[in-house]
Amino acid sequence: MRIALSTGGGDAPGLNAVIRAATFAALRRGWEVVGIRDGFNGILFPDHYPDGSGVFRLTAQNVRGIGHLGGTMLGSTNRGNPCHYPVVQPDGSVVYEDRTRHLVDLFREAGVDALVSIGGDGSLSIAQRLYEEGMRVVGVPKTIDNDLDRTLVTFGFATAVEIATESIDRLFTTAASHSRVFVVEVMGRNAGWIALYAGVASGAHVVLLPEIPFSYDAIARAIKRREDNGAHYTIVVVAEGAAPKDGHQEVIDRPHDHAERLGGIGHVVAEELTRLTGKEARTVVLGHLVRGGTPTATDRLLGSRFGAAAVRALEEGENGVMVALNEPDVEYVSLADAVGRLRTVPLDCDTLLAGRELGTSFGDD
Ligand code: F6P
Repeated sequence: MRIALSTGGGDAPGLNAVIRAATFAALRRGWEVVGIRDGFNGILFPDHYPDGSGVFRLTAQNVRGIGHLGGTMLGSTNRGNPCHYPVVQPDGSVVYEDRTRHLVDLFREAGVDALVSIGGDGSLSIAQRLYEEGMRVVGVPKTIDNDLDRTLVTFGFATAVEIATESIDRLFTTAASHSRVFVVEVMGRNAGWIALYAGVASGAHVVLLPEIPFSYDAIARAIKRREDNGAHYTIVVVAEGAAPKDGHQEVIDRPHDHAERLGGIGHVVAEELTRLTGKEARTVVLGHLVRGGTPTATDRLLGSRFGAAAVRALEEGENGVMVALNEPDVEYVSLADAVGRLRTVPLDCDTLLAGRELGTSFGDD
């Protein structure tokens, strides 16, 4: 048995733990393991890897000691989806080609019996297409955004929440010392999980989520209430995908082969709050900081469990499935059911209710 591991989409803390665990679990069964560089680029474009490392053997030696490292030793990409591959024409227009069949053939030629595809919704959708074309596939859910529907949680999320919370904690002191408003923008795409968890954990005063269109007047009222109570500073956490009522999301750019990049709402909120309250409002965009560095123990453990479970799934004859956390177990769910279903924050979720009961404003009161 020869399996391939691929990591796709944005990197997330815990990827290396999955690679290490899947490799050890496979080697223990006497299987061979290869890693594909940069999503599927290593196998699709071997010429880009003149040293022949586009597809390379994973061994006990090269995965040893990587579990605590952020990023992915295989490299990753969130561009150039092989099932919808953008080819720029001489006149500048873009034509999209489906290279799924070609990719399956390349895996066959490389003697790969099964693929463990580690990624978010984009990568798992590619995995599902490969499965439909006859490839044996098991998916492993990854994203700091925690927006995949069929697993209780994805690895990477815990680390992102930890780093965001610690960063917000650090802003409290300056906010209080200078009587300022701080607006902290965090990643998460169209789901507000990181903003909600880090906001409530840190005790931020206002939390703005994509799931709850906000009003600037409501935030200004929350700031005023605090001022009246003698608290001359306010911490606002805003998810990059949040938008005002009757407004729109802020977008950095819309690359043709990448989901649109959200970002910029933090500055817009700070400007508007200064205008409405007269207070100095500063913005901190945490950006990729919450995605990098050492994974927390929670993410390392989940990554290790997912990596081992993916190999176990293959041994048990599973195909076209994704490993998923359903505490206390890791179970297998159908990839077809898992992809294309964004999991956003339910408005009645307990963490949101707790935040409201603690007096956090979600910009809608
Ligand atoms: O999906 C993970 C994520 O970090 C999102 O939170 C964010 O919107 C996006 O990726 C950023 O992507 P990139 O690194 O390509 O800018």
